[in-house]
Amino acid sequence: MNQTEPQRVALVTGAARGLGRAIAEALAQQNVSLLLVDILADRLETTCAELAANGTRCTAFATDISAKANCTAAIAAAIATYGRLDILINAAGLMRFNHATDVSEEEFWQIMQVNTAAPFWLAQAAIPHLLETEGNIVNVLSQSALMGTAYIVPYSMSKAALLQLTKSLAVEYADKPIRINAVAPGSMLTEISTGTRPPADADFAKIKRYSGTRPPAQPAEVAAVVAFISSPAASAVHGAIWPADCGVTAG
Ligand SMILES: NC(=O)c1ccc[n+]([C@@H]2O[C@H](COP(=O)([O-])OP(=O)(O)OC[C@H]3O[C@@H](n4cnc5c(N)ncnc54)[C@H](O)[C@@H]3O)[C@@H](O)[C@H]2O)c1
Repeated sequence: MNQTEPQRVALVTGAARGLGRAIAEALAQQNVSLLLVDILADRLETTCAELAANGTRCTAFATDISAKANCTAAIAAAIATYGRLDILINAAGLMRFNHATDVSEEEFWQIMQVNTAAPFWLAQAAIPHLLETEGNIVNVLSQSALMGTAYIVPYSMSKAALLQLTKSLAVEYADKPIRINAVAPGSMLTEISTGTRPPADADFAKIKRYSGTRPPAQPAEVAAVVAFISSPAASAVHGAIWPADCGVTAG
């Protein structure tokens, strides 16, 4: 980092574990200060303490981002803590396997609130601050935003909506000093599928179409892409949807 430049500040959602945590670690490597957000308060504290022990300025903000007020409060906490915000990473996400015909209203809206509405409310609250710092947003999609994926229909819908949030915001702010992009991972070895399994009578040939030929990626491999796009080195990248799916959506 140029010593005359202020230290960048990032808010990362879903940072207690998995990809969000790996992104926090990758940003820490770039000397970025962190406001970490997750609903899992204990795991979040542990992640933050481990990063702080390695010299990163890190603050944990445990909250449920499915409520708009909590999204606004998270952005306010970043400003109260560090006085600026340079990067918003929307990495929190929820996935549930189910037959489309068995999805309850509660399950449907829970997925939409976490995967689609929260990134919108967080972006809305962050944009005035990101305009001041000429900062950027990276939304974490999924290969499910780019292809049909059986037994996870609301998840796929929610990520496709997040894709359009990315592109539409990028167009709305085309003439402003802010970048808005997305990364679309394929399968990773994380806990997102903890507590959810394909239906017992699922046709696994349909799941195989999106599970890919190569082994699942490690979260750190995808986090490196997110960290690059959020960095000044990616200054020409705006409105981009960057797959990191080991070739699944290539066809
Ligand atoms: N693991 C995969 O195979 C895969 C594939 C494609 C995309 N993704 C996406 O990557 C992102 C990270 O997922 P992951 O694989 O690390 O899974 P994960 O379950 O380990 O991480 C998701 C995090 O989001 C948090 N979260 C969920 N609901 C929340 C809420 N209401 N408020 C605050 N935090 C909440 C969880 O507590 C968790 O820490 C997600 O957006 C996911 O959709 C994952």
